This record gives sequence, C-alpha cells and structure tokens, in this order.
Amino acid sequence: MTQSYTALITGGGQGLGRATALEMAANGINVLITDINEDAVKETVSLISDAGRIHYIIQDVTAEDAPLQAVQAAIEYFGGLDWLINNAGIGKSKSLMDTSDADWDRYSDLNLRSVFRMSKAAIPHMQAGRGAIINLGSIFGLLGNPGTAPYAATKAAVMGLTKQMATDLGPQGIRVNAIAPGLIKTPLTAERIDHDRNFQKLMVETTPFQRVGRPEDIANAIYFLCSDKASFINGHTLVVDGGWSTSNYVYSALNEI
Ligand SMILES: NC(=O)c1ccc[n+]([C@@H]2O[C@H](COP(=O)([O-])OP(=O)(O)OC[C@H]3O[C@@H](n4cnc5c(N)ncnc54)[C@H](O)[C@@H]3O)[C@@H](O)[C@H]2O)c1
Repeated sequence: MTQSYTALITGGGQGLGRATALEMAANGINVLITDINEDAVKETVSLISDAGRIHYIIQDVTAEDAPLQAVQAAIEYFGGLDWLINNAGIGKSKSLMDTSDADWDRYSDLNLRSVFRMSKAAIPHMQAGRGAIINLGSIFGLLGNPGTAPYAATKAAVMGLTKQMATDLGPQGIRVNAIAPGLIKTPLTAERIDHDRNFQKLMVETTPFQRVGRPEDIANAIYFLCSDKASFINGHTLVVDGGWSTSNYVYSALNEI
C-alpha cells in the first residue's frame, strides 16, 4: 500500500488554509498546519475527527527559524513531507502613493519571502514523484486593480516564482503550481464583501457566476493539483474565480439592479 501523503499548510487557522486542511484530512492525507493565531488553529484541529491525522504548530511564518521548525514538525509527527501549501498571507493593501516603506516590507516578507524560505526548507525532504508545492497567488496579481499595489506585486511575484521553481524542480520529480483565487469569502474578505458597495460592484457584479467563491472551491483545486490526478501539471497557475478575470461581464449593464 502507498504510504499516506503528508501536507504542510501555512496559515491553516482559518479561511482557505482551514478549508484545505479539512479537504486533505477527509481524503486521508496527514496534515500539519502552522499559524500565528493559536485559537484559530485549535478550532481547525477540532473540526477534524481523525485526531491522528492532524497536528499544528504556532509560529509567525516570517520568523527566521519558522521554515525549519515547520518542516521538522512534519517529519517528527508523520515521518516525512510531501506537499507544501504556501497559503499564509495578508491582503487589504493600499495604492502605491499610500503605501509606506514599512507596509511594503511587511507584504514582501509575508506574501513572498516566506514562500521562498518555506519552499527552500521543504524541498530537500520531498521525494521524486510525490513532492508537490502549491503557492497562493491571486487574480489581483494577474490584472491591474484599484488601490492594491503591494499586495498585487507580491502575488504576481509568487506566480512568477512558481514558474521558476517548476522549471528547477521538474527534473527532481517535484511539481510546483499556483492557485489564483478570485474573491473568496473568508475572514480576510468578509467585511468588504458584506459592507463595501464599491467592492461589491467591482468584484461580485462582474462575476458571471454572480456569487463570491467559497473556501471549498479553492481547497478542492489545491487538493487536485497536489494529487496524482495532476501528475503532468507543472508550473501552472490555476485561476479559480467564477470567470471574473476572463470576461467583461457587468451585471448592472445587462439587468436592472
Ligand atoms: N480570500 C480571498 O478572496 C483570496 C483571494 C486571493 C488570494 N488569497 C490568498 O489566499 C491566502 C489565504 O487567504 P484567506 O482569505 O484564507 O486569509 P485569512 O486572513 O482568512 O487567513 C489567513 C491565515 O493566515 C494566518 N497568518 C497571517 N499572518 C501570519 C503569519 N505572519 N504567520 C503565520 N500565519 C499567519 C492568519 O492567522 C490566518 O489564519 C492568502 O495568501 C491570500 O492572499 C485570498
């Protein structure tokens, strides 16, 4: 029998990381989640019925020793590491002129540098034919959008890095892909989705599916890209956005609001 896969998911305390942890565990994958928020992580763990399938550590993913600590924990608890989901990140950034140097560094450290450092620590433990890395990009890193310069820049860089990693690691039998989620309702976005009318116009009424995404929409795509079903997919960014970025759909132009 094939040995169970082990996935390390950063930012597994809520939102997309939590949904991915639940999806993985439900499919018999061992899961190590890391997060800075202890209460949130414990809640994620409590939602998984097979307690032996999930472990967590509390860490700031940007801390110097975070990658080593996370990888060692996966090996200690589960005996190896196969999949890395670089998910922890922050959103809600500002336009270029409103962004301070400190803001810029914070986005770079968390959304981009941690992806590079976490991957570097994990790759030596991955086996040919089993190893897979998924980086969380964004549709905001594919298209220009109002008022989101540092976030968009870091996400574009993550998707660029994904192609470079896929090229370098392909010969070792490790696949690297990215997901570019559209607007997904999580604690990161819920406030704006529910209360910001301009944001609703920009994001929801311009989505042909006429809804925001659910965390499970992304978790399913991440699990697929890690699994053997995606065995020849490498260096790809999978857009999961209900058609937002590929259409000129405007609900109000077609229908009375
Ligand atoms: N929700 C969306 O619409 C959307 C769209 C595109 C991309 N994304 C990306 O998907 C990823 C997850 O987004 P989400 O919506 O689930 O966000 P979220 O804020 O709901 O969850 C992020 C998790 O990361 C953790 N985290 C934050 N900073 C951390 C740090 N320094 N160290 C460790 N953990 C930390 C948080 O505690 C939280 O549990 C992010 O990279 C985000 O940019 C989200």
